[in-house]
Amino acid sequence: MTTELITNIGQLVTNVATPAADVPADASAHVSEADTRQDVARLGILHDAAVLIEDGLIAWVGAAGDAPSADLVTDAQGSSVIPGFVDSHSHIIFGGDRSAEFEARMSGQKYSAGGIRSTVAATRDASDEELRERTRGFLGEMLAQGTTTVEIKSGYGLSLEAETRLVRLAAEVTPEVTFLGAHVVPTEFAGRADEYVDLVVGEMLAACAPHARWIDVFCETGAFTVEQSRRILTAGAALGLGVRVHASQLGPGEGVALAVELDAASVDHCTFLTDDDVAALAGSNTVATLLPGVEFSTRQPYPDARRLLDAGATVALASDCNPGSSFTSSMPFCVAVAVRDMGMTPAEALWAATAGGAAALRRTDVGAIAVGNRADLTQLSADSYVHLAYRPGVPLIDTVWKDGVATAVAR
Ligand code: NIG
Ligand code: FE
Repeated sequence: MTTELITNIGQLVTNVATPAADVPADASAHVSEADTRQDVARLGILHDAAVLIEDGLIAWVGAAGDAPSADLVTDAQGSSVIPGFVDSHSHIIFGGDRSAEFEARMSGQKYSAGGIRSTVAATRDASDEELRERTRGFLGEMLAQGTTTVEIKSGYGLSLEAETRLVRLAAEVTPEVTFLGAHVVPTEFAGRADEYVDLVVGEMLAACAPHARWIDVFCETGAFTVEQSRRILTAGAALGLGVRVHASQLGPGEGVALAVELDAASVDHCTFLTDDDVAALAGSNTVATLLPGVEFSTRQPYPDARRLLDAGATVALASDCNPGSSFTSSMPFCVAVAVRDMGMTPAEALWAATAGGAAALRRTDVGAIAVGNRADLTQLSADSYVHLAYRPGVPLIDTVWKDGVATAVAR
């Protein structure tokens, strides 16, 4: 098997926190004075570092001067290398687009959950091959922007056949498949939401669960009530699926409390939180996943990441790439907006987009550059991760390694 050494890394963000006291004083692995800030220390930064990749995994991490030999040596030329982004929330299997809806919104119309139904019609009309090709295209975009782990939700099928098809196609490209049959009530069940929930927890769940790792529900006015959501999530959990929830996107509600009650891995959006929601999240294992692309693309107020972080909650950032509320696949964009408008430091935002995403997927093998983890790394054409927020909109991704396989990004 071939080994690859990435060496001469000016700044290696490992996400393996090193207590300042344990940091060796020697020049090859030092942490600068600014690096002792808590949010930065959590990034476990090494300078003049190297990483050895073997068989798709990280085999060694340390000072470049101590690095073992390898079959292939890659010179990072003093640049910054970070863990590949973990995008823990996307809806990238769908047909059509909603650029007209976006245009109308930018001339004053309000976002509503109802737009989802127009994507449902276009998705049902698309062939397997069309959907596959589209999804692979988005995954390519994501990889070129440094993302190496992607969660994909169903939710634009909303019938037994269509939802089963979406989870099956998603499972072809990622292990992080989420069954979101309860995205909205489809038109043919208008006025009969509980009957639709019967279908979701019955035949639909039975058919989709074998292809999925997670179950999700849109718990929001205009989508599903907290009672319906509880029914759906507990049915999924009973079949062994992990729980995730869309909640408090359009207004305050009971979805966050429900997520914590059910020990959900993540509750996503969290734009309108009560003090009780924040306290519940802080005292739980449920990650608050914030989706800056949504508020950007719907012209809504941003979620307050600072309030969550100060309370002690774990925060992740994800793209929520979908044709309605957030048609961006770019984690660097999300990092930049989170820093500019959501009260996060560059270090907190980077952690949230990598280790935070991994926590939201309850994964320990991604999101950190540590021995035994998957060799998922992103090299920046900059000497510091801070540039991700400092240089918004600039293509800063150089080479991306996924499972040890390198892709050089053309710019
Ligand atoms: O996460 N909030 C619910 N679902 C998506 C929106 C999907 C759509 O508008 O098509 C979201 O924002
Ligand atoms: Fe979503």
